[in-house]
Amino acid sequence: MATPWIAPSILSADFARLGEEVDAVTAAGADLIHFDVMDNHYVPNLTVGPMVCEALRKHGVKAPIDVHLMVRPVDRIVPDFAAAGAGYITFHPEATEHIDRTIELIREHGCRPGLAFNPATPLEYLDYTLEKLDLVLIMSVNPGFGGQRFIPSALCKLEQVRQRIQASGREVRLEIDGGVKVENIQAIARAGADTFVAGSAIFGSPDYAATLRAMREQIALK
Ligand code: DX5
Ligand code: ZN
Repeated sequence: MATPWIAPSILSADFARLGEEVDAVTAAGADLIHFDVMDNHYVPNLTVGPMVCEALRKHGVKAPIDVHLMVRPVDRIVPDFAAAGAGYITFHPEATEHIDRTIELIREHGCRPGLAFNPATPLEYLDYTLEKLDLVLIMSVNPGFGGQRFIPSALCKLEQVRQRIQASGREVRLEIDGGVKVENIQAIARAGADTFVAGSAIFGSPDYAATLRAMREQIALK
């Protein structure tokens, strides 16, 4: 399996000091920066857009930016995020009219496409898309807010996606998002995740480096 990556979610960062917060988690060993985009339409919350992504790049952020789009429509905003320096762009199948077209659009703009699954979204959406994806994101909370409790059925879903990825023979990242903590990350890794989003567990902790280290230790024990 791929090297485990930890992706702190800026949703739980101090937005008044966003550049410093991203520098701090990067110095603490973050592999990528998870960037939650919410529109108060597809999800009941409103966050940040391409301008903030670009501002982070201009601030000097070098780590790949893992854009998680929780917006409808999706296609309009994809080129803007690509221009703003996104690495991965992940979207929800329910939020776009033409899933395959959106995947192609992300790829055409030089980014890596990901598909996100809400807790009640069936994995059948992978049937004709996995061969074109670089990342599958399993939501272990309903999207919209940080600090929610992990929904255990996500573990079984991770196992099923891991099997599908293995069968495909392709390198596809398997990311978990929502309620990830030092206490449950080992079980999540065992279920097949290799990319771990954590917002409140990292930004809510007093020592980012210590938390990232503890997470890595747990993942290694799986
Ligand atoms: C929720 C977001 C998550 C969120 C996770 O809709 O997609 O990335 O920031 O936050 P925690 O880790 O606090 O559950
Ligand atoms: Zn997210």
